[in-house]
Amino acid sequence: MKLATRLFWAAVPIGLPLVQAATTLNSLARDVERVESIRAIKNIQREFSQLAQFGKHGDMAAFFSSNGTLIWGNETATGPVAIETWLRTDSGKMNGVQPGSLDTIIAENPLVSLSVDGQSAKARWNGLRFQGDGVGGAKIQGGIYENEYVRNVNGKWRISLLHYYALYAGPYIGGWRNVGGPLPFVPYHFTPESSGIPIPVPEGEAQGTTATIEELASRISRLNDEDEVRNLMHARGYYIDRRMWTDVVDLHTENTTVTLKGIGTYTGATGVRQSLERFQGPEGLTQGINNDHPIFDMIVDVNPNGVEAVARGIEIAMLGDANTRAASWEFNVFRNHFVKEKGVWKVKTVHLTPLIVADYYKGWGDGGLSSPNTYVPPFLNVTRVDFKGSKGMQRGTNTDLADLQRRLGRSAAYDGAENQSHAYGFVIDDLDCGKMGRLFAKRGHKANPFAGYFISPERTATACYTTYGTNRTTLRSSISFHWRPQPVILVSEDGRSATLRARLLQPSTSTTKAGSFNNAIYHDQMVLEDGKWRLWSITIDEFYWQSSSWEGGWSAANPRNKSEPDPPPAEWIKKYPPDITLKEIGERESTFRGGSGKYIQWPEIQRMWFQYRNLVSGRVPEFYWPGCVPCKAKPDWALEANGYQEPPNGPAIKNGTYKRNVS
Ligand SMILES: *[C@@H]1O[C@H](CO)[C@@H](O)[C@H](O)[C@H]1NC(C)=O
Ligand SMILES: *[C@@H]1O[C@H](CO)[C@@H](O)[C@H](O)[C@H]1NC(C)=O
Ligand SMILES: *[C@@H]1O[C@H](CO)[C@@H](O)[C@H](O)[C@H]1NC(C)=O
Ligand SMILES: *[C@@H]1O[C@H](CO)[C@@H](O)[C@H](O)[C@H]1NC(C)=O
Ligand SMILES: *[C@@H]1O[C@H](CO)[C@@H](O)[C@H](O)[C@H]1NC(C)=O
Ligand SMILES: *[C@@H]1O[C@H](CO)[C@@H](O)[C@H](O)[C@H]1NC(C)=O
Ligand SMILES: *[C@@H]1O[C@H](CO)[C@@H](O)[C@H](O)[C@H]1NC(C)=O
Ligand SMILES: *[C@@H]1O[C@H](CO)[C@@H](O)[C@H](O)[C@H]1NC(C)=O
Repeated sequence: MKLATRLFWAAVPIGLPLVQAATTLNSLARDVERVESIRAIKNIQREFSQLAQFGKHGDMAAFFSSNGTLIWGNETATGPVAIETWLRTDSGKMNGVQPGSLDTIIAENPLVSLSVDGQSAKARWNGLRFQGDGVGGAKIQGGIYENEYVRNVNGKWRISLLHYYALYAGPYIGGWRNVGGPLPFVPYHFTPESSGIPIPVPEGEAQGTTATIEELASRISRLNDEDEVRNLMHARGYYIDRRMWTDVVDLHTENTTVTLKGIGTYTGATGVRQSLERFQGPEGLTQGINNDHPIFDMIVDVNPNGVEAVARGIEIAMLGDANTRAASWEFNVFRNHFVKEKGVWKVKTVHLTPLIVADYYKGWGDGGLSSPNTYVPPFLNVTRVDFKGSKGMQRGTNTDLADLQRRLGRSAAYDGAENQSHAYGFVIDDLDCGKMGRLFAKRGHKANPFAGYFISPERTATACYTTYGTNRTTLRSSISFHWRPQPVILVSEDGRSATLRARLLQPSTSTTKAGSFNNAIYHDQMVLEDGKWRLWSITIDEFYWQSSSWEGGWSAANPRNKSEPDPPPAEWIKKYPPDITLKEIGERESTFRGGSGKYIQWPEIQRMWFQYRNLVSGRVPEFYWPGCVPCKAKPDWALEANGYQEPPNGPAIKNGTYKRNVS
């Protein structure tokens, strides 16, 4: 084929700023490699977490470059050999190897920045570490990573600097507090202006590539498939939290199996439902029940054949019943298989390995309630996951450069939207109202709890200043972190807009009292504006559950006194009124403080809203709200009213049967 005559000038920017220039085979090859690099970097950090759970310190150290450095709080080790020794010594008996021990090192909320030449990168992550020695000792620590990565001569990504800033730590019993008193801001490697640039504009001509267009088409499909498998697993997780068993079953294949290690295997739709009912409870949440199973550090390996995939990750269940004051933890590893049937990814097998099950009030120090796990679910080989020239690779048949660039743009959009989501979480942790406002699109808008929505970067920032004040102290006595893990990201056809659902997992810390966890859900939209990803719509639902304190946990909440009046909206809105109040939004926000209906507070069950239908069956959820949350009341705030496509809300409905509308 004559590539030179197939030059394409993109009519619209599509996630990669470089499409302002013509797409050629060489530039497509370079752009594919840059999106793959972002994913390879995330996968290394995820594998580091997964290996730590089984004390694989040598393999963890092998992810460092030959002169790579690890800085953990105030301790430093350089080079793989010293790093391995440090990892082993530091974890001691809390190494996941000693019977009943635990070492779960979570890294989540990645904000990855690739260098202009594509050969190095920086990334910020949130960290949490749950440890126990199996004979009574248990601790928790948390902080922020600002890490650096390099590409070695073999083209493999390595960690050149793992820099963990220790912010909070403490024993399980009694809980964690700030490390070293009031906490400084952890320096940022990015600015609000740079955070939405999916991939920096490269300098100069793209180098000559040896890749064929068929190979690039396969690699792009593989990236697109990874996005869909991620969405499928993450969406499944929210149905599990909510005990929406019918929706869970819809995501599985006809002959699916669910294996609970040490318990048994369940087959088919009936088996899936049976395992869920037997080990988790009846369909639906009733007052006081917390069934959260957040998913962390998941790696997805799409088989080069394009129709099979494996995902392995960490699940930390936070379970409870506020009626009986029961509460527990579960640390599980999942390793699931997926197949693509008629163009739709489905769950084929679930394989869950429990590492620790522990009573909340006792903790996991003694190894928990079940006998110690000895099974190591096989790791995914991230070198292979990121290995592109694999033999079995299906050759793509799509040779339309413009269409391939669009498809690649949709995967770049997945990372760009996720990046911007985490940028928001990081700056809001630091109550940096100015930076936060600058993450928004010109007509972007944000919900403020107990108040309403504000539109524009200036007004979202002023609303934030009105809530938190303008005087930020450089040392803070307490912080509430805004983790936004487990995103379900639905990207529009043209790759210029995305709908993003994320969990809010909120660990807190303070100098004076033990921190604890809360949980809620974000329902957001992002757009590509002037070549940068920006926040379009940010909505936080009020807490689905809260901890009364570290000691009490999530099961200590008492139901509200129903004779007391519902709490009023925030006082400050009289000073700085929103563009639309929660009350004016109507039904969607009616159960929140300041909303139009009856206020709901944990341990009552908040309604869980969804922006999308079931991703496989198209089933409409009970609480369904497609599009931006304020858009029914403010139609001119909708994406489509502003020149963007509305991302898909699930598979398209065609003539009574559901068919996907996204290719
Ligand atoms: C590590 O090695 C690389 C490649 O040899 C070199 O460019 C870099 O400066 C070194 N870094 C440090 C911190 O020594
Ligand atoms: C390093 O940090 C740990 C944990 O915060 C602390 O216990 C220890 O005293 C510190 N060591 C030094 C040398 O500052
Ligand atoms: C994320 O933000 C960083 C920091 O500004 C930027 O350099 C990087 O290109 C972005 N990455 C993605 C995948 O959007
Ligand atoms: C499921 O298993 C049955 C019985 O073995 C078989 O007839 C059917 O074709 C299988 N379904 C799929 C989708 O593979
Ligand atoms: C991972 O995959 C690569 C590439 O296929 C291979 O060279 C390497 O040996 C594998 N590593 C392990 C631990 O299996
Ligand atoms: C800001 O807060 C600090 C610490 O609370 C205080 O010392 C300082 O005077 C305040 N500055 C202004 C301008 O209010
Ligand atoms: C509930 O609130 C009402 C009205 O304030 C009050 O009279 C009553 O004592 C409260 N009941 C309890 C159990 O606190
Ligand atoms: C739906 O299917 C029926 C029967 O197959 C057909 O008559 C009808 O025209 C279809 N409707 C649409 C909108 O395609």
